[in-house]
Amino acid sequence: MHPMLNIAVRAARAAGNLIARNIGQQDTFEVATKNKDDLVTSIDKQCEKVIVDTLLKAFRDHGIIAEEGGVQGNPDSEYQWIIDPIDGTTNFVQGIGHCAVSIALRHNGKTEIGVVFDPMLNEMFTAARGSGAFLNGRRIRVGSRDSLDGAIIGTAFPTRYRDRMHAYLELFSRLISNCADVRRMGAASLDLCYVACGRFDGYLEQGLKAWDFSAGDLILREAGGIVTDFMGEPNYVKSGNVVSGNPKVLRALLQVCDVQNLPAILK
Ligand code: IPD
Ligand code: CA
Ligand code: CA
Ligand code: CA
Repeated sequence: MHPMLNIAVRAARAAGNLIARNIGQQDTFEVATKNKDDLVTSIDKQCEKVIVDTLLKAFRDHGIIAEEGGVQGNPDSEYQWIIDPIDGTTNFVQGIGHCAVSIALRHNGKTEIGVVFDPMLNEMFTAARGSGAFLNGRRIRVGSRDSLDGAIIGTAFPTRYRDRMHAYLELFSRLISNCADVRRMGAASLDLCYVACGRFDGYLEQGLKAWDFSAGDLILREAGGIVTDFMGEPNYVKSGNVVSGNPKVLRALLQVCDVQNLPAILK
């Protein structure tokens, strides 16, 4: 295994143990609200510390961009780790066993490594650029569906961007009429990994942050998937507006997005 991937996997497992031991036990951790409806717990912070300590011990002059603590380590390094210590904090607080640790490594701006670990199912999704994507060491590939007929699509309501809700719900209505069903699971990193291993046929969400999607994005692309923004462009890396699937499902999802008539607020 890629030596840096190895350390990232170790860091993800350490944080995952903390998640598994504390999920739903609201008397064992503190919960605070960052922005409206965006929660952070003392376990998010402990997980982040374990990950950052593990990475900086192994790679002293690398940089870190982490959801809770922001920029740490060497901000000028060519190597930047992007960390979401608990992706799916709301699920974690509520005791809904669907959340993950997400760790990506960017070298000169390009994602080289992605690790997404679901400690409740003990599922470790990994990828190194150019070497394929894996679930617990087994190669994974996107599903082979060639349209939205029968497709299960992951998504999320833009609760952090209420001004987009109306436009999103119109799109949602077209989506649900064209596919078999929709899931809102609550952890973006796992949504991308679920497309990567064929559990979902596609996934779309707006307004993600780098720590939500960087690892899952690489894992999905290494599994043969494509990720774009709602216009079919690669700009999702900046906007955080993500549409994904195998090439055919992606094309069908972009048709549902209807670029010509897409409201400006969703672009
Ligand atoms: C959130 C989850 C959720 C997604 C939100 C993210 P967090 O991450 O990934 O599924 O819909 O956009 O912010 O805050 O639990 O790390
Ligand atoms: Ca959060
Ligand atoms: Ca997240
Ligand atoms: Ca988080």
